[in-house]
Amino acid sequence: MVIKEAKFLMSNTKVEACPAPNRPEYAFIGRSNVGKSSLINMLTEQKKLAKTSAQPGKTQLINHFLINDEWYLVDLPGYGYAKVSKSSRDEWRRMINFYLQKRENLTCVFVLIDSRHDPMKQDLDFINYLGTMGVPFVLVFTKLDKQSAIKTDSTIAAWKRKLRETWEELPQMFRTSSEKQIGRDEILNFIEEVNAQ
Ligand code: GTP
Ligand code: MG
Repeated sequence: MVIKEAKFLMSNTKVEACPAPNRPEYAFIGRSNVGKSSLINMLTEQKKLAKTSAQPGKTQLINHFLINDEWYLVDLPGYGYAKVSKSSRDEWRRMINFYLQKRENLTCVFVLIDSRHDPMKQDLDFINYLGTMGVPFVLVFTKLDKQSAIKTDSTIAAWKRKLRETWEELPQMFRTSSEKQIGRDEILNFIEEVNAQ
């Protein structure tokens, strides 16, 4: 897929205030600092479309972007940032649960996972929650440039083992580096194929 146009539309806390659900929607989620906003910028080839930060917790709202006037891309706030208060965590959970349950045009959730780390409970809980709810999702392993291919392979193998404990079918998996532009075509082709279905 060629990205002809990518523009920021709006930020919301409420699902009802999000853009009209008249196009397929792809949401990016994962731990704070995993590289969601960076991946969105890499995919759209716009350095500053989604706000990134070395400081975790940068993205706090549901951010809608419109791509090629055809589909929505959504940057969601991350989970698992230790310094967040319990009330903020509860707020996050409410907002995300509501978004995942009510957003009728949500087509696929991209769950980002840092390829340097073995499976973490919070990621696993979130993935199992998506699976239980029947929300279609794929996994995206990020920051490939930060370690050897062998280490990435071993992280992904550990994830497969872990997921097989609960699920018969494994989700599709992508390997990415926003720094090195790895995985861009694979993700955009996937979206193009799903849009065409
Ligand atoms: P929150 O919005 O806070 O949840 O974070 P996020 O998941 O949107 O992460 P963000 O894209 O802001 O990136 C966090 C940090 O990781 C930044 O310092 C990025 O430059 C860095 N980063 C993101 N992706 C990559 C990557 O592929 N390679 C490398 N080396 N660094 C990356
Ligand atoms: Mg972000």
